[in-house]
Amino acid sequence: MTSVTVKTGKPYEVRIGAGLLQEAPAVLRALLPAKRLMVVSDDNVFPLYGEALVKALTEAGFMTSSYVMESGEQSKNLTVYGDLLGKLCEAGLTRDDSVIALGGGVVGDLAGFAAATYQRGISYVQMPTSLLAAVDSSVGGKTAVDLPGGKNQVGAFCQPALVLCDIDTLKTLPELEYRNGCAEIIKYGMLLGEPLFTRLSEKPVKEMYEEIIGSCVAVKRDYVEADEFDRGLRMLLNLGHTAGHGVELLSGFTVPHGQGVAIGMAIIARAAHAMGYCDETVPKRLIKLLNMYGLPTETEFTADELTAAVANDKKNTATSMRIVYPEAVGSCKVLSVSKETFHEWLKAGGLL
Ligand SMILES: NC(=O)c1ccc[n+]([C@@H]2O[C@H](COP(=O)([O-])OP(=O)(O)OC[C@H]3O[C@@H](n4cnc5c(N)ncnc54)[C@H](O)[C@@H]3O)[C@@H](O)[C@H]2O)c1
Ligand SMILES: [Zn+2]
Repeated sequence: MTSVTVKTGKPYEVRIGAGLLQEAPAVLRALLPAKRLMVVSDDNVFPLYGEALVKALTEAGFMTSSYVMESGEQSKNLTVYGDLLGKLCEAGLTRDDSVIALGGGVVGDLAGFAAATYQRGISYVQMPTSLLAAVDSSVGGKTAVDLPGGKNQVGAFCQPALVLCDIDTLKTLPELEYRNGCAEIIKYGMLLGEPLFTRLSEKPVKEMYEEIIGSCVAVKRDYVEADEFDRGLRMLLNLGHTAGHGVELLSGFTVPHGQGVAIGMAIIARAAHAMGYCDETVPKRLIKLLNMYGLPTETEFTADELTAAVANDKKNTATSMRIVYPEAVGSCKVLSVSKETFHEWLKAGGLL
């Protein structure tokens, strides 16, 4: 088992290893004052792991209820959130009780936000079952749901009491979701540099989950501890995300997030080299690694289309857009730029 402690206002442990779901009842018993638990999951994950977890928690003496949402981003909304709050109330959870988020980032974000706000905040435990949730969304305390006008528009910062990542659950993850997670892992490789970056090219991530998830969580921990409320440094975790999000938007979300991030990182790395911010080995090494994991590095969308899509997005004002770029593998920087400069970067990154 690998353990990483995140020292935020309320410190917590991230445990990564095989068989952690089986150990969960004893671990939760020792950690939480809770009498009642609500296991929140989705309809893919709950039949695989949730039913057994509820049974084991009940046998360990917790009064355990469950809430199962439809899988997918479309469930991350105020209606499902409101429905879950109603179920927490019906099940009689009090401020000493806890929510267990068992699933990918959608479940984690929604269950975390419900826990953050139910009775002004109760504790919750993240049990990530997707690779993306394991390396990204389960750590850092950002919880949210989407509004029709945009993703993650309502939320709260609320750190979990514990993160339990049972790598055995990743065996059932669909290949596409695996690749999406790998794009984020490569992003961590760009931020940290060695030894992570080279390690990723030596063996597939799926053959060394515990080691790689542990390394990524340690990178995220450093950024979260330095900037718990996302006011500055944590922005670097958005490498590849601005352009990537534009590609996702323009595709009507048929390009999944991980692929968007892969394309976004490749564009920005090519541009950073073309504009003299890094040497040619940086985009070369990045693109080689992305290709190795079956991730795309090009898009048909034009610089005009992408600039318009990104500039209209809620996070960016017309006057200031943020570019996170690599100056080396293992060193990234943030630039605040105008819409025009962003457009130049996209052109330099190979877009028409
Ligand atoms: N809070 C944060 O800091 C943060 C960071 C990054 C992303 N996010 C959010 O995370 C969400 C994306 O997360 P995601 O990629 O995990 O999506 P997801 O939760 O939709 O999971 C992806 C798919 O994999 C399935 N799945 C999950 N685990 C499985 C398993 N072990 N076996 C079989 N199927 C499994 C799910 O049912 C779903 O169909 C987005 O809403 C995004 O905004 C949040
Ligand atoms: Zn991401």
